[in-house]
Amino acid sequence: MKPELLSSEAIGAALKDGYWRVSVLEESTSTQTQLRESSPKDGDVITAEYQSAGRGRLDRKFEAVKSSALLFSCYMKPNISKEFFGKIPLLAGVAVAKSINEITNSKNFKCKWPNDILFDEKKIAGLLCEAYGDGVIIGIGINVSTAEEDLPVNHASSIFLETQKIIDRNKLLVLILNNLKETIHQGCDLLEYEQYCSTLEKAVSITLPSGEVISDVAQAISEAGALVLKSGREVTVGDLIHITTSN
Ligand code: BTN
Repeated sequence: MKPELLSSEAIGAALKDGYWRVSVLEESTSTQTQLRESSPKDGDVITAEYQSAGRGRLDRKFEAVKSSALLFSCYMKPNISKEFFGKIPLLAGVAVAKSINEITNSKNFKCKWPNDILFDEKKIAGLLCEAYGDGVIIGIGINVSTAEEDLPVNHASSIFLETQKIIDRNKLLVLILNNLKETIHQGCDLLEYEQYCSTLEKAVSITLPSGEVISDVAQAISEAGALVLKSGREVTVGDLIHITTSN
């Protein structure tokens, strides 16, 4: 399958208003790093067909075959105080899950706290949010047409593999940017997150940056975006696994 290429004309023509300024690149080291180094302004976006040094959370790599994924970073200045910036990855996750569900006519793309988008427990997309100045650089990588043999890990999948739908990345990018603007600039309300979050009420194992591993049940999301566990403990950062049973 030959994916359509990213097109600044198609993206520019479809965006609702003048808030977003999108630069389309053939190749970047990492749109996240490149956006940061460009001293971004509110609404700047870089998207690329390929990244030679894509970055994931917790210092991991994020790799994708050229043109198979939608890779972009955008800079936003949310109108909330920094102590609530932990909500941003969750709200961005809602914008991504909502947009993928809309474009594929599905209900099964969900958010895994804090930064992944899943379809049936398989990772379709990852988000990386990094503070910069008064705002946040939101980096999003979505496996759109990735073939089975090109998936980076065996618990990953792509929109095409799960839905058999061929998605135009230009349309998906526009949908996400419009939803992101709405979610983040209109109150940063987490109510909608609970509707999209597949982590709540699940047994989870969380590896903290210190190496400590917590096994508990995910109970709620705090006002600041932390995961509240049944034990009462609140987690703000960690590598989380849903514990699923086969019966
Ligand atoms: C993760 O799954 O750990 C987060 C992955 C985030 C990847 C995106 S792709 C666009 C942007 N540029 C990067 O180098 N990383 C983010």
